Amino acid sequence: MRIQLQEAINKLKDGEVVAIPTETVYGLAADASNEDALRQIYAIKARPSDNPLIVHIAEMNQVEQFASGFSPLAKKLAQTFWPGPFTLVLPAKNTVSNIVRGNQPTVALRIPNHPLTLQLLKESGLALAAPSANKYTQLSPTSADHVLTGLGDALPVLDGGACEVGIESTIVAVQGENWQLLRLGMVTEASIEAVAGSAAKKLSQPIKAPGQHVLHYSPRTPMRLFTSREALIACANAHIKSNAPAAALVLGSGAVPNCSYFELNKNVADVAQQLYDTLHKMDSLGAKELLIEAPPNESEWLAILDRLTRAAHG
Ligand code: TXA
Ligand code: MG
Repeated sequence: MRIQLQEAINKLKDGEVVAIPTETVYGLAADASNEDALRQIYAIKARPSDNPLIVHIAEMNQVEQFASGFSPLAKKLAQTFWPGPFTLVLPAKNTVSNIVRGNQPTVALRIPNHPLTLQLLKESGLALAAPSANKYTQLSPTSADHVLTGLGDALPVLDGGACEVGIESTIVAVQGENWQLLRLGMVTEASIEAVAGSAAKKLSQPIKAPGQHVLHYSPRTPMRLFTSREALIACANAHIKSNAPAAALVLGSGAVPNCSYFELNKNVADVAQQLYDTLHKMDSLGAKELLIEAPPNESEWLAILDRLTRAAHG
């Protein structure tokens, strides 16, 4: 059910869970200091309790409520990439709920770049713990409709339109002047290196990234990646011969005969923005298999390749 900003604020303050827009994907949000509300997030997602949540804040000065250290390197990265699709994993204060941290000694923090959610964070004064608003291992939602289809109409959703970035934030752990990339995203490794300068890309105690399962971000329909367009087209033809329709996604233009197919403009930002929406659409066609053209194995495409590889696993 769609709700307005003030209603979202009231519900969150009352300890309810509300789906909120961000520029990356929609989040399933609750007051980060309310443990009953936090438990509901895990229950709704059917997510294991050792998989920690990102805390969304409005201002840089809230970091020290959660983190026991905000080193010059972490601060420089935050100043460069916030608000934006970038999450910092920092040593946690022991006052941060273990439910947020999934029992880790660290906490993940992000200032998202979505006007409605920034307004929500500021006006409520809350910090909001929020994982992506989808069932565990399924496709992430990039619209209010995706959230309602995936989690049910009874869930209150603040509709902020289609997400502009479209894939989940880049996650970086920082300890002092050392850092480690935990999840690829649209803030690229090269742009982090440019800010981090000579800081070491290695933590003295490497961090486990509990949520990085190989099987993740998956449509219900089996999905296969192709590095060659010819092989994809041949597979689509084979499907027709066996009387089981496939659906295809190509990057750039070009028809896939005998198949419902989707074309995405071959530009990294456009593909990221439309990827999950296209996969949601393809998943609803009742196809036997989704045939996906892989992007080139080049640095700017790595985050998208990462999501597609996980989605296709198995
Ligand atoms: O773009 C995003 O990051 C979206 C929006 C809603 O902000 N959120 C998101 O949350 O993708 P989620 O829970 O689906 O993915 C967050 C990932 C998980 O793999 C989780 O294990 C990891 O971040 N994570 C969270 N806190 C962590 C911590 N303290 N240490 C290591 N990994 C952590
Ligand atoms: Mg997720």
